Amino acid sequence: MLHEYRPGLEGIPATQSSISHVDGKSGILEYRGIQIEDLARSSTFLESSYLLIWGGLPTQAELDVFKHEVQYHRRLKYRIRDMMKCFPESGHPMDALQACAAALGLFHSKRELNDPAYVQNAVVRLLAKIPTMVAAFELMRKGNDPVQPRDDLDYASNFLYMLNERVPDALSARIFDVCLILHAEHTINASTFSAMVTASTLTDPYAVVASAVGTLAGPLHGGANEEVIAMLEEIGSVDNVRPYIDARIANREKIMGFGHRVYKVKDPRAVILQGLVEQLFEKVGRDAYYDIALELELVVEEKLGHKGVYPNVDFYSGLVYRKLGIPSDLFTPIFAIARVAGWLAHWKEQISTNRIFRPTQIYEGLHGQRYIPIDKRPDIWDK
Ligand code: ACO
Repeated sequence: MLHEYRPGLEGIPATQSSISHVDGKSGILEYRGIQIEDLARSSTFLESSYLLIWGGLPTQAELDVFKHEVQYHRRLKYRIRDMMKCFPESGHPMDALQACAAALGLFHSKRELNDPAYVQNAVVRLLAKIPTMVAAFELMRKGNDPVQPRDDLDYASNFLYMLNERVPDALSARIFDVCLILHAEHTINASTFSAMVTASTLTDPYAVVASAVGTLAGPLHGGANEEVIAMLEEIGSVDNVRPYIDARIANREKIMGFGHRVYKVKDPRAVILQGLVEQLFEKVGRDAYYDIALELELVVEEKLGHKGVYPNVDFYSGLVYRKLGIPSDLFTPIFAIARVAGWLAHWKEQISTNRIFRPTQIYEGLHGQRYIPIDKRPDIWDK
């Protein structure tokens, strides 16, 4: 029995999985054995989701059916939209999304995890409805009615259309779709682990996704992409980069968008995202924040490269989304739109070989303490 405690379970295998693989020393990421660079070049988010969830690339006919089903289920029930109307517009969109994902379970409460049709329906519904929920919350908090999904638009174009109320150009839609591919899956990260723990109780997939959304929201995980833009804003100019980094290192504060538990080189997704940023800038003009980001990368490598601290996926994604006109507090919900594919793949894998998660602990508290009646306890204010 293992008695060594490793904070954050670093290096401890929590499962056996055949969904994705990361080689953190060489900067390699594979979905079902296919390199992320190949998927980013040639696949689409829905095809990559199919690959992750069903275990292999679809035939054209299988992909057509899958796309059609996802498209068919994009609309939200009126009751979900009515529930969203009661949300405070100042609330974070991740909290809204978590509530909506859980609420979806109320409409599909007959839990039949052994029925392939139930599993298929849950996968399709969650992939289809999460983007609609994110876009609807954005419009409703601005006081507008949500925009209905459009059946003639592909997954990425439809989301950008529902968000901005106009059809995006082909390059923007393709770049957004590649961003979704890059964020779809990443082994046992915190939110996926959270999804697996929840799945292992054999609860419904809506609760699984809701718990993962809550975990993704934190600034050390998905929330970092939002914080990267806030950091670039705070730095303000290339000249301020070095003093900013020096001050953060001196105060032992983390630099957002850098560092990773597994990667000790530049995250391959950050490499691809940087290419996308540049492609987008060529078409719509450069963002001044990009120069700050480039300088940041140089200075962080100089100061922290020896610790294996390099840009992670969150570093450049915010710059892409900003250029697409997306508000920064939607960056993490967009991460969730993509990562739902990975969560569902792990949900399916977990329930196929399930054993409930129940780790142990190393108890460091007291033993044999006497119960003291309340009137005999010392008053802390007298101390
Ligand atoms: N800035 C400054 N120093 C860093 C950073 C950073 N971003 N990341 C790691 N380090 C340093 C640590 O201070 C530590 O130094 P030490 O050994 O001298 O104490 C060393 O590198 C190892 O870092 P840990 O914090 O132990 O690494 P851990 O694996 O626990 O944390 C994490 C990984 C949470 C991603 C961390 O790098 C971090 O907080 N980064 C900033 C937030 C961020 O960008 N999160 C997104 C991650 S990617 C994702 O979730 C999609």
